[in-house]
Amino acid sequence: MSDVAVREHDPKVSAASTHGDTGGEVLLAAAGLSKTYRLGRIDVPVLKDASLDVHRGEWIAVVGVSGSGKSTLLHLLGDLDEPDAASGAVLYEGVGVAEMSRSQRNRYRNQTIGFVFQFYHLLPELNIIDNALLPAFVAASGRPRWFRIVSWAVAALGAAVACGGGIAYSLLPLNADQVALSWWRWALAASLILVLGLAGGAVAVGLWMFVYAEIHSLFFRLGRRYQHMHTRAVEILTSFGLGHRLRHRPRELSGGERQRVAIARALMNEPVILLADEPTGNLDESTGEEILDIIAAEHRKGLTVVMVTHDPAIAKRADRIVRLHDGRIE
Ligand SMILES: Nc1ncnc2c1ncn2[C@@H]1O[C@H](COP(=O)(O)OP(=O)(O)OP(=O)(O)O)[C@@H](O)[C@H]1O
Ligand SMILES: [Mg+2]
Repeated sequence: MSDVAVREHDPKVSAASTHGDTGGEVLLAAAGLSKTYRLGRIDVPVLKDASLDVHRGEWIAVVGVSGSGKSTLLHLLGDLDEPDAASGAVLYEGVGVAEMSRSQRNRYRNQTIGFVFQFYHLLPELNIIDNALLPAFVAASGRPRWFRIVSWAVAALGAAVACGGGIAYSLLPLNADQVALSWWRWALAASLILVLGLAGGAVAVGLWMFVYAEIHSLFFRLGRRYQHMHTRAVEILTSFGLGHRLRHRPRELSGGERQRVAIARALMNEPVILLADEPTGNLDESTGEEILDIIAAEHRKGLTVVMVTHDPAIAKRADRIVRLHDGRIE
């Protein structure tokens, strides 16, 4: 790529760019992130005050030796994992991801970010269209506001019916003499009826959720939105050279083909940022080049890209290279 602005061999430029001097709006930022994994009693500090500014429209390559924390950093940027408490923040358009509401955060993960995992993580039982469609399914799976109210009502109804049944079964047949039970028998009967009520509520909610999911899925698959998404998935997969493989399952594909499906899945919801973890790591050189060409084409259309790689030759396709060393971005 001709517009390579920064090379890893130029530490002065690289350091400056890391602090946001390349100009342009900072779209995504890691601000002083620390991440420590706990293995039993042992703390493994991986990131130590790591900071990185990602500008809108740029393509950054994050390089570093194996185990330096590249995947960890990418997971934090994509909100797939959280930094140590009070250690720093991931900011999208200046807003802390941790400060977002739950629905904003879900949208950030599902729609703002497209994530390509180091080991594809395709679902083996789905064909490649459904694999690519997964983020679209997630986006459409939000429940309406009335869902929670109806769930509580169904639970209450189920509990009431079960309690009523329990009372009718255990108390109504009693004659006047039997009603004069000792207090502990009353307590036992009340406990049994309570347990019955809880179980009735739980069963009713379970059934309701099952029925809701089935009906929702049926209507969703018949709806225009699904047809639109399906068409988009087919278009992306076809443009990636997988048009003849649409009904195949991941195990029937080569590594390069699987990675193309993973990229199609990441692009499904038209993300603003692509976070790609070693997208060519398991591929031969020419297949890796094909994958990079796909990413480059999306980048030219405006996609911001943060790509992790341990290969300096691959990193050179990016606009800017930053190095993760000793838990920090250098
Ligand atoms: N869930 C986890 N629990 C404990 N330790 C972890 C966990 N995930 C990662 N680590 C450790 O954190 C360190 C960094 O891991 P990470 O996967 O981020 O490195 P990486 O730079 O992506 O390596 P590679 O280039 O091999 O993919 C490693 O020492 C790893 O063993
Ligand atoms: Mg990794």
